[in-house]
Amino acid sequence: MAFFPFLCRRSSDVREPDRRNSNTWRVFSLKELHSATNRFNYDNKLGEGGFGSVYWGQLWDGSQIAVKRLKVWSNKAEMEFASEVEILGRVRHKNLLCLRGYCAEGQERLIVYDYMPNLSLMSHLYGEHSAENLLDWSKRMNIAIGSAEGIAYLHHHATPHIIHRDIKASNFLLDSGFQVRVADFGFAKLIPEGATHVTTRVKGTLGYLAPEYAMFGKASESCDVYSFGILLLELASGKKPLEKLSSTWKRSISEWALPLARERRFQEMADPKLKGDYVEAEFKRMVLVALVCARGTPEKRPTMLEVVSLLKGEANEKLAILENDDIFRPDRIGTSSRFVVAGNDSNCIIEEKEGMGK
Ligand SMILES: Nc1ncnc2c1ncn2[C@@H]1O[C@H](COP(=O)(O)OP(=O)(O)OP(=O)(O)O)[C@@H](O)[C@H]1O
Ligand SMILES: [Mg+2]
Repeated sequence: MAFFPFLCRRSSDVREPDRRNSNTWRVFSLKELHSATNRFNYDNKLGEGGFGSVYWGQLWDGSQIAVKRLKVWSNKAEMEFASEVEILGRVRHKNLLCLRGYCAEGQERLIVYDYMPNLSLMSHLYGEHSAENLLDWSKRMNIAIGSAEGIAYLHHHATPHIIHRDIKASNFLLDSGFQVRVADFGFAKLIPEGATHVTTRVKGTLGYLAPEYAMFGKASESCDVYSFGILLLELASGKKPLEKLSSTWKRSISEWALPLARERRFQEMADPKLKGDYVEAEFKRMVLVALVCARGTPEKRPTMLEVVSLLKGEANEKLAILENDDIFRPDRIGTSSRFVVAGNDSNCIIEEKEGMGK
């Protein structure tokens, strides 16, 4: 008991997060979540991730929730659950999917969020909603700027500062007006070892991992910047972060995009679903920012605050300097990053290297 002072108190005397910005954060009872989700009915299931299954539910007041149910209980998970939930419950920002609360009864550990009716960015880019073609260029630009603002808030304004560690298209959720909410920040370390095929030893998702994190497990804000660069490339091109070219080689999206950017062939990079309907200057800006974020050398990546102003078009001098950066020199050959993947198991990265100049 002494290890888990936060969760072991009764809900009435739990030290709750700062409520100045919200009056919705609270402790839920298991009974309430059972009834909201129709006893975690299969029909209510929204999906499954490293942490466990996610269910849609409706509370007695009619509000819709998403409930994440931790699948593997352990002492370690318990301790992390307690401290993480307490920290994350305090964070409030218009582009972050904030916790509505949690439930800890017996061995059940559940996290409650607002339900996002337009689901994830992944589902619109290449998942179950992609055929509906709902992401026009202005929505994509709003998603890019909004999510950059949310992550910049985590890195620079939240106390303590939070590294997301699992930035990817399924963790970018969309509300009814297609405003983006970044989800699952700070929770990467709660995911049990080897829980899913996408979760690597270093807790992240292959295709989004900064090389220094993938190889040495060194997490920092700049690892998030790298993953965000990959996400911007997905948003612009509609491509997945890794494309299987042979049984042993998956090409990363930056490896595909960088040679095209060097030759200034931006049009060829646009998602065909946009049907050519986008603002060229903004598109180029998004791609250039994406590629400097996703460069191999962490010290050369921008901060998320810089990314926000670059994307908003407030730092055009800086953008011009970036465009003349060595990595965009048309005479360069090679790749920004190459992943060689062993066998069919995409957990194993055996090589990653920075592009070579001529
Ligand atoms: N608040 C929510 N509203 C609507 N859908 C959600 C919500 N939270 C999660 N989902 C959906 O549920 C599914 C599972 O989410 P979950 O976060 O568990 O897994 P993931 O994002 O694929 O991987 P990870 O465990 O790394 O976050 C995803 O498709 C996600 O888009
Ligand atoms: Mg998620």
